[in-house]
Amino acid sequence: MRQEEIWDAVAAQRYDTPGTGMFAEEVLGPTVDRLVELADGGPALELAVGTGRVAVPLLQRGVPVTGIELSQPMVDQLRTKVDADALPVVLGDMATATAPGRFSLVYLVFNTISNLLTQAEQVACVRNAARHLLPGGRFVVELWVPQLRVLPPGQPGTVFTAEPGYIGLDLLDPVTQRLVSHHFRFGRGREAELFRSPHRYIWPAELDLMAQLAGLELESRHADWRGTELTAESTSHVSVYRLPAG
Ligand SMILES: C[S@@+](CC[C@H](N)C(=O)[O-])C[C@H]1O[C@@H](n2cnc3c(N)ncnc32)[C@H](O)[C@@H]1O
Repeated sequence: MRQEEIWDAVAAQRYDTPGTGMFAEEVLGPTVDRLVELADGGPALELAVGTGRVAVPLLQRGVPVTGIELSQPMVDQLRTKVDADALPVVLGDMATATAPGRFSLVYLVFNTISNLLTQAEQVACVRNAARHLLPGGRFVVELWVPQLRVLPPGQPGTVFTAEPGYIGLDLLDPVTQRLVSHHFRFGRGREAELFRSPHRYIWPAELDLMAQLAGLELESRHADWRGTELTAESTSHVSVYRLPAG
């Protein structure tokens, strides 16, 4: 399935969950606080801006934000919150599209670099981020740490969440580093709703190499937006890369 088919009008209309999930204050608050800090008074570019989950509150905190986004329906949702003068969006692929200007911060959150399904596209995306940076500017990536230790021998998949009304299952191919996340939502009846999204997982060290190819240097890496230390048990990371100032 192509990304444009996944992020269609139905997905876009269901995306926002104000106050809960990825829109909960305890998730968004620390994300936006840290991005304000990292923007360091300059403008920001969000790759795959979506419906503006992060971009809109960041703008409200006084950071000028521009977006790049592939899906028109996701941008349509964003436009119900903010107009194009306040938050311009370039419709296109984050691996290749160009937004006007240079930015002190480019960010790509919520695992979305993994929506590019080949290493070549992911490398191109990191290079594209670097091209948009001012000297000394930062590129921030929020990404999960592949949990291959939990993949039993001979089993193609793992359940990452099981709770009343929801089961999340990943089916993985360690050869291509591709996986398909299956999100099953159900009530008391027989019917379940399934949302599937394909990804290519990236090792933290592989991401560092992609950044190096783009001329970026790792500045910091933490387990979350609050600055928690990254350990062998961490399931996610927030990595900050910097374009040398010189
Ligand atoms: C999980 S959502 C994240 C949206 C937003 N960044 C957030 O944190 O809520 C993934 C978004 O990536 C967009 N996307 C997927 N592939 C893309 C690509 N190659 N270029 C630009 N946007 C892309 C989708 O259309 C969707 O809006």
